[in-house]
Amino acid sequence: MEENLSKLSAETILQSLRKVYDPDLRRDIVKLGMVKNINIDGSNVSFNVELTTPACPLKEKIKSDCIEALKNDVPSIGDISINMTSSVRQHQDNRKDAVLPGVKNTIAVASGKGGVGKSTVAVNLAVALAKDGAKVGLLDADIYGPSIPLMLGITEKPRIYQDELTGQMLPLERLGIKVMSIGFMLDDGAPVIWRGPMASGAVKQFMSDVNWGELDYLIFDLPPGTGDIQLTLVQTIPLTGAVIVTTPQEVSLIDARKGLMMFSRVNVPVLGIVENMSYFIAPDTGNKYDIFGLGGGQKMAEQYKVPFLGGIPIDPRIRIGGDTGKPIVHELPDTEYARVIQEISRNLAAQVSIELISAASKKVDIILGDEK
Ligand SMILES: Nc1ncnc2c1ncn2[C@@H]1O[C@H](COP(=O)(O)OP(=O)(O)OP(=O)(O)O)[C@@H](O)[C@H]1O
Ligand SMILES: [Mg+2]
Repeated sequence: MEENLSKLSAETILQSLRKVYDPDLRRDIVKLGMVKNINIDGSNVSFNVELTTPACPLKEKIKSDCIEALKNDVPSIGDISINMTSSVRQHQDNRKDAVLPGVKNTIAVASGKGGVGKSTVAVNLAVALAKDGAKVGLLDADIYGPSIPLMLGITEKPRIYQDELTGQMLPLERLGIKVMSIGFMLDDGAPVIWRGPMASGAVKQFMSDVNWGELDYLIFDLPPGTGDIQLTLVQTIPLTGAVIVTTPQEVSLIDARKGLMMFSRVNVPVLGIVENMSYFIAPDTGNKYDIFGLGGGQKMAEQYKVPFLGGIPIDPRIRIGGDTGKPIVHELPDTEYARVIQEISRNLAAQVSIELISAASKKVDIILGDEK
């Protein structure tokens, strides 16, 4: 027994697991503090690997890399049981903690041009992240044309309840996500005429006067454009980062570039670009058609050195999903469309983790720099 223990110690296991890299975070999983609760029973070993998001695109790869490393380094090892868990890391930001104390990360979905599918992307990404087990909220910050209620099938003005303890409004819950929209407060079809300060004031209230509870990701669907109002909004919301949605046409790309510039002006990291209406898959032949041109979003991502999160095809079912309040990732989860969006949501979650780790290591550099 004693001999076995000395052969197989937690240190031996950790030593071997240092060879397993998280390719996104570009560090080994031991250094990242992901290996937890190592349990050794004779030659059998069990432990947890705590990922930085339940929507990790590399979950299976990391698990099989662990098994491979251990089998290589410790030939006498018996059963290996790995429990993949997750804990989303928190964006350290005093401004955010003041208004959204339970919310770990905030993500804006933006576009330069209108009608490129921002709201469609925001809703589907939110639902996709929730399907992977993340706690997700969606805040419709498009005060001019709130379309989130319709896209989630909330067609009647809903009753908004108050939290008795805090007096805050409680968000609605749909398809596993918490939702709040100015659309819930308005009479059907009433036009909204807001001035800039009112717009940002309304969004501020939707952060502080709503009890969002504990969330891993709170997604903001922004109004289109890059004018003063949008600029004020992105300065009002304490953001972990932004996603830019574009279609492949040049007219949309030009505006998407303006969006990139806007976020860089206010020092909000761009977590990635999503190209919507990227291509069309003919239902009869399965052939792909690049209706609006090829690869514009990807080229732009390369040019500006921001991640390309993926392209979503154009398909009537995506529009119908929006019009009928049944987002495609929920309604038709087995389609190629849903699969693509799920993958984009995982790429986004990975980018949030990357952003947080790189911000944390920059902070360490600054502290170390100060000591010198
Ligand atoms: N990939 C797609 N395939 C088919 N239709 C789509 C797709 N993406 C979005 N649409 C449709 O295009 C229209 C515009 O989409 P959406 O409302 O999401 O755009 P938006 O950028 O939020 O617009 P706005 O700028 O007005 O807020 C909607 O009818 C939506 O259902
Ligand atoms: Mg919209």
